Amino acid sequence: MSNLVVAIDGPAGAGKSTVAQLAAKELGYTYIDTGAMYRAVAWKALQKKEPVTDELILSVLPDIEVDLQYVDGKTKVFVDGRDVTGEIRTPEINKIVSQVAKLGPVREKMVNLQRKMGERGAVLMDGRDIATNVLPNADVKIFLTASIEERAKRRWKELKEKGYDVDMEEIQSEIAARDKADSEREISPLVQAEDAVLLDTTGLSIDEVVNKILGMCR
Ligand code: DC
Repeated sequence: MSNLVVAIDGPAGAGKSTVAQLAAKELGYTYIDTGAMYRAVAWKALQKKEPVTDELILSVLPDIEVDLQYVDGKTKVFVDGRDVTGEIRTPEINKIVSQVAKLGPVREKMVNLQRKMGERGAVLMDGRDIATNVLPNADVKIFLTASIEERAKRRWKELKEKGYDVDMEEIQSEIAARDKADSEREISPLVQAEDAVLLDTTGLSIDEVVNKILGMCR
């Protein structure tokens, strides 16, 4: 397969990182999880142990170093050299990450990094604004979605497996709130690019979705 640039966008819990990671491995491409980068900024803000205001978030931005390493089909996330991979997917981060991702200076810094990573080709990048803003010239553009019930169920399972005692209804309303915040924000809102292919994963298995993505790349 030639060195394509593949952009996958979609709402929270659509399964983007699971299927993108597997598809990238199959293609021999680098997988770039841009949501993890906004989560990394949220993680650093939380380390301050102060109320999370926009000012607090912006105060950690100037000297934050966010690094993604993709090794053996798995992405590791580093903040200032510390491996935070396991610490960025918690209910606390889920609650504040949309607030982080709506701030212009945060997006500017992350998008610059993402474009540099995308330049090399042979990449599969997922997020909310990849096809519309980060890599508008991507060769393959996919908008991945699923019903809100299914997305909530997947997130619930993921958190449960990590040992969190979570309530399905609470997760569903948290996802709905995040969908709203991500879709209605001023800068680069979550929206399907005009030239993206819609892939609804409701009722599909992980393998079925991965195969559809591989088919689009081929
Ligand atoms: O995909 P995720 O749940 O890890 O994303 C975390 C948050 O980051 C999500 O609320 C939206 C935001 N995000 C974004 O605004 N732009 C991206 N390219 C990726 C994620």
